[in-house]
Amino acid sequence: MLVKKADFVISAVKPEQYPDDALPEIALAGRSNVGKSSLINCLLCRKNLARTSSKPGKTQTINFYRINDAFYFADVPGYGFARVPKSVKKTWGKMMETYLIGRKPLKAVIQMVDLRHPPSKDDQTMYDFLKYHQIPVWVVATKADKVPRGKWQKHLKIVKETLDMEKEDPILLFSAQTAYGKEQLWHLIVQQVAN
Ligand code: GTP
Ligand code: MG
Repeated sequence: MLVKKADFVISAVKPEQYPDDALPEIALAGRSNVGKSSLINCLLCRKNLARTSSKPGKTQTINFYRINDAFYFADVPGYGFARVPKSVKKTWGKMMETYLIGRKPLKAVIQMVDLRHPPSKDDQTMYDFLKYHQIPVWVVATKADKVPRGKWQKHLKIVKETLDMEKEDPILLFSAQTAYGKEQLWHLIVQQVAN
C-alpha cells in the first residue's frame, strides 16, 4: 500500500467531533501500551504521527487519521490501565462504547494483544463485546520481535484459545519494530475499506 497522504484530523471525545465525510474507518483497540499508536506509525511509515509512549495511557481521546483521503484510522484509548482513577475509567469506557456501537462508517476493529502474554480479562471482554455487537474484528498479536520465532505458534494458540476466537476471525502476527506482518495487515485493510 502506497501511503501518499496521512493527516491527523481530530482528537475527539464525543460524536459531534467525529469526522462526518462518511469515509470508511478502521479502529485500533487494545490494552494501554500494547502498541496501537506504534502500529499506525508503522503502517504509515511515519515516525511519530500517532503519539507513542512507554508510559501507558498516552492516548486518551479518539484520534482520527485520514489516509490517502480514502479512509480513516481511529486510534482509541487503551483500556486496562490500573493507575487511572475510577471516574476517568468510566468516562473512557463510555466514550469507547458510544464510538464502537454508534459509529456507522466503522468497517472493522483491529484488536491488539501482546504476543508475549495470554490475553487479559479486559481483552476477553473487548473481544466478546465486539462479537456481541457484530463488529468485524481482527486480532493482531504484536511485539512479535520480543518472542523467539520458534514459540510464535504456541503463543498464537494461547491467544486464540484464551479469547475463544471464532475460526473465521483473522489473527495476525505483527511487530512495529521490524514491520513484520505489515503487508498482510494492509491487505486486509484495503479489502475491507473497499467493501
Ligand atoms: P496507549 O496510547 O497508552 O493506549 O498505548 P499504545 O497502545 O498506543 O502503545 P504505544 O504505541 O504508545 O507503544 C507503547 C510502547 O510499546 C512504546 O514504548 C513502543 O515503542 C513499544 N512498542 C510498540 N509496539 C512494539 C513492537 O512491536 N515491538 C516492541 N519491541 N515494542 C513495541
Ligand atoms: Mg496510543
